[in-house]
Amino acid sequence: MNKKLKIFLIILLILIILTVIIITTLKLLKNDEPIKETSLYSDKAVNVMKQINLYDEINNKNYSRTIEVLLEDNKLEKLYLEEYYQIEYTNINNFSTTINKLLDKKYNSEEINYIINNKKEYLNIILNMNYIDILAFKDIPNFNIKNLDRYLNYQEEYKEYDLKTVVTYVNIGLDKEGYSEYTEYTKKEAQNDITILVNKYHKLPDDYVPSDLVSLSYSSSYYLRKEAAEAFEKLTNAGILDGVIFYPFSPYRSYDLQDRLYTGYVARDGQKAADTYSARPGFSEHQLGLAVDVRSSTLPDNLTPEHYEWMLNNSYKYGFIVRYPKGCQHITQFMEEPWHLRYLGVEVATKVHDSGLTYDEYYDIYIKTQE
Ligand code: DAL
Ligand code: ZN
Repeated sequence: MNKKLKIFLIILLILIILTVIIITTLKLLKNDEPIKETSLYSDKAVNVMKQINLYDEINNKNYSRTIEVLLEDNKLEKLYLEEYYQIEYTNINNFSTTINKLLDKKYNSEEINYIINNKKEYLNIILNMNYIDILAFKDIPNFNIKNLDRYLNYQEEYKEYDLKTVVTYVNIGLDKEGYSEYTEYTKKEAQNDITILVNKYHKLPDDYVPSDLVSLSYSSSYYLRKEAAEAFEKLTNAGILDGVIFYPFSPYRSYDLQDRLYTGYVARDGQKAADTYSARPGFSEHQLGLAVDVRSSTLPDNLTPEHYEWMLNNSYKYGFIVRYPKGCQHITQFMEEPWHLRYLGVEVATKVHDSGLTYDEYYDIYIKTQE
């Protein structure tokens, strides 16, 4: 064999070996890649799923960001694998820990989705409580998570009430003794809001006097706020047209006058009884200059049943409601007072009338913004 041929054959051999090495290496590399190419999960997630032997199981299913985050955080609990797939990923702090804690408390995926998507602000409270049927509160607009404990206690005590009633009554404050805790308005709030709620849980400043009191045509010493006084004249005239005649006998009352009245009633009947029919000073709508008691002309009763009926059906058209209707003492905290009218303006008075609710309930459901 000549030398040239020998060199040629050696080079050929080297080339063949090199080709084989390159092909084998490429093949090996290719074999190594399918994991990266076929898994939709991040490398970090893939590593963890391999460690916990769930690679095939997870990759055979649709991609889930929830699963990925749990894997990346190394918080995936095999026990909850199926539930995880039903939970939508949400960008909240400690997503993985939160989900696991909720699952530990026996919340199902539907409830968890509701909580983390709509009620993130509930999380701290919910995580510190045992399981509650959170979806039962879903469609109750005035539900306030801050009162959750109180709802549950009240529900326990009054099993006959449905959840809506429980929520409203607790929001009003009825699970607590009247006057035991109350909000005190500023003078500005009292003056600026015709629809302000005054009851045993909402107080006016002692020195609040409405700035726009005007006297009623019936008597120069009877006052209401201007808007209410004008509406009262219209109401009176409408009554006359229908043959229903009534007179004001107690319109605006100052804090001091309310104090004198209440103190007198307590001396006469005792505090417990007085509290059922007279507001303590600072807690009377009369101090607002937006309430007026009326009576029928000839009878010693404050208002005849016929007058009361007329008032219930017509006063709202002029902006007034019967504030303490019959059968509502457990809500208003005052016995029925067919004669006590509260001015709210035609729009709100009409809505309250149409709702069939007391103003305490209406205010909580439709006016108050739940903090
Ligand atoms: N009689 C009502 C409740 C009041 O004193 O304001
Ligand atoms: Zn009154």
